[in-house]
Amino acid sequence: MASQVLVAANRGPLSYQLGDDGTLTARRGGGGLVSGLSAALARQPEALWICAALSEADREAVRRGVSEPGVRMLDIDPTTYDDAYNGIANSVLWFTHHHLYDIPREPVFDAEFRRRWDSYVAYNHAFALALAQEAGEGAAVLVQDYHLALVPGELRELRPDLRIGHFTHTPWASREFLDMLPDDVRAQLMWGMLGADEVGFHTWAWAHSFMTAAQLDDERGIAEPKMAAGVDPREAPYVEKMTRGPVRHRRTNVAVYPLGVDGDELRALAHRPEVNDKLAALRAEVGDRRTIVRVDRTELSKNIVRGLLAYRELLTVHPEWRGRVVHLASAYPSRQDLAVYRSYTEAVRELAEQINEEFGTEDWQPVMVSVKDDFARSLAAYRLADVALVNPVRDGMNLVAKEIPVVSDAGCVLVLSTGAGAYGELREDALTVNPYDVSATADALHAALAMPAEERLERTKRLASAATALPPTDWFTAQLSALREA
Ligand code: G6P
Repeated sequence: MASQVLVAANRGPLSYQLGDDGTLTARRGGGGLVSGLSAALARQPEALWICAALSEADREAVRRGVSEPGVRMLDIDPTTYDDAYNGIANSVLWFTHHHLYDIPREPVFDAEFRRRWDSYVAYNHAFALALAQEAGEGAAVLVQDYHLALVPGELRELRPDLRIGHFTHTPWASREFLDMLPDDVRAQLMWGMLGADEVGFHTWAWAHSFMTAAQLDDERGIAEPKMAAGVDPREAPYVEKMTRGPVRHRRTNVAVYPLGVDGDELRALAHRPEVNDKLAALRAEVGDRRTIVRVDRTELSKNIVRGLLAYRELLTVHPEWRGRVVHLASAYPSRQDLAVYRSYTEAVRELAEQINEEFGTEDWQPVMVSVKDDFARSLAAYRLADVALVNPVRDGMNLVAKEIPVVSDAGCVLVLSTGAGAYGELREDALTVNPYDVSATADALHAALAMPAEERLERTKRLASAATALPPTDWFTAQLSALREA
């Protein structure tokens, strides 16, 4: 049966694992996109989520016809998939949008890049075809993230009747970084995005970067960005597409939906018996010491190494905290197919060990790193947190910054990077830091640990209220309504 609401994302709500005995078990995926969308779609039973088979086990599930209701996994040729996901989406587009390149050496756009780019085009094409096939007349399609930047353009040509939205969960690159891409590749990206009726971002900072990119294409005669007339430039900006494609002068609205968390649901999850048990175990390990908590995928943009350096500097400059604080760092593995992620993971582990060797005593381990993707343990750490450290160099939103204040038992101080999307909404009640400034981060950690309990609690309440302003269901339905009205 054709669907009226469709979502397309590289990662599905779950992915499978193949046991030695050949049985398939399903597991929830990590990252902000999956947690936000899963929560929103739980209340949209008629929606269809189209995703890629990420692994051999997922492909096996497709072959065996194993699936969850409302989910369609695409079995894309593994080499094409690897080139598109690892080779382009995570190595080129992610690095561009997060400004992660080590500029003297990267990026290199050569024949190998072109081969991978062709795979990215093919992979986007496979999604566009599946969407065109599954969507009912006039259906709303919400395409997610940088993996699928070409889908709106392609789908527009296949099915002009559809309402197409695209949401970017990452930042959008600054003009300088976007300009590093080969001209035709950048133009193709913009053409893909501008196939949508609306493109959405977590914050105005990223939406403005996108408008600037469109401006750039304007100069090249591809698109014309329009800031609304009037005082508030954020009022309904849009972009008009000038060339390519069968439909000329199409209007693409640029909108902002800052994804938040569902407070009641998160608190309920954080008080399950399983989490209570993990909390008791953590308390036993930490004793009556204060805690600095961070939870991330082991991801270059999360700036975990500088976070550890700041903690080391805290212990050096403020020796009074030695023995009185523990840094609980959950850094669960991510994108380990990429060598640069593996070496980053190793660097995190090594630095944590060095800090433990340098400062640890018989009864005090300064840093406890957990590399397991254990949501219950993360929630327990959230509840225990005196200080939450969220210091990404650049981040689309960062839901951890929103989750910790919501579930913290006794209130926690949020040390928050100016590079996080969440900065826009949370800055007033967080201690904000320049993510590159290790000494300033150490100072903020000290100030956070020393903050009086009352002030901390007041700030936490306000942070929690800002964090729950747009829970996933509202975030999703707002986009759906905007598309239907477009
Ligand atoms: C970020 C991206 C998501 C992605 C997630 C996890 O949040 O915006 O699209 O799913 O990271 O990354 P992964 O590569 O494991 O899907």
